Amino acid sequence: MTLIEEAKKTTKGASISVLDALCDRRAVRHYMDKAIDEKTIRTLLEFAVQAPSAINSQPWSFAIVQKPDLLNEISDGAKKTLAQDPRWKSEAKHAPNRFLDPAFNIFYGASTLIIVCATQEGLVPEADCYLACQNMMLAAYGMGLGTCPIGLAWDILRTDSMKQKLGIPVGHFPVLPIIVGYPSEPTPRTPRNPPRILNWIGA
Ligand SMILES: Cc1cc2nc3c(=O)[nH]c(=O)nc-3n(C[C@H](O)[C@H](O)[C@H](O)COP(=O)(O)O)c2cc1C
Repeated sequence: MTLIEEAKKTTKGASISVLDALCDRRAVRHYMDKAIDEKTIRTLLEFAVQAPSAINSQPWSFAIVQKPDLLNEISDGAKKTLAQDPRWKSEAKHAPNRFLDPAFNIFYGASTLIIVCATQEGLVPEADCYLACQNMMLAAYGMGLGTCPIGLAWDILRTDSMKQKLGIPVGHFPVLPIIVGYPSEPTPRTPRNPPRILNWIGA
């Protein structure tokens, strides 16, 4: 049995419809102190690579970080830069002082970080990778896991020194870091605006 077949049979995803998953997946920011095993991560990656990609180029690669010290180091490094970043200083919704708060961790204590990276293959590798990210987040939801994309880690993960530390070779570009873990509490639904239809040219 493949990892995908097994997940379909054994996880709660087996009973969640695609349509429910599309509406009920949330950005989870509260996690249990519980590790995710290797098989579960490999299963998530199998679902990620089922995503469509332009000319089926499959231009993705993955770096996984589960070492708590390294996750803390990345968070601390990111916060140092973010605290000085004018883009955040002007954001009313995000007070800059959270980056100065030692208790704030940009990964919210999640046990696992999966960095989805793009190779230079295909026509639109970054777009392809974002599709893989969504696949992975929906699969995680189906498997009872929480996820949250962490754009706050973009800058630090794209530095040569951090890429080297994480074993991300030249030619692989970190597109989206996604935390994964077991949610410790339910996440309320976030509001959505109705679709903005610009024009509808009928028959
Ligand atoms: C590209 C991208 C980057 C994001 N970066 C962060 C982040 O750094 N920290 C965070 O807490 N949430 C981050 N999010 C999560 C969004 O805030 C969240 O998806 C949005 O508020 C809608 O909530 P929902 O996913 O629960 O529906 C990011 C989402 C995306 C798509």
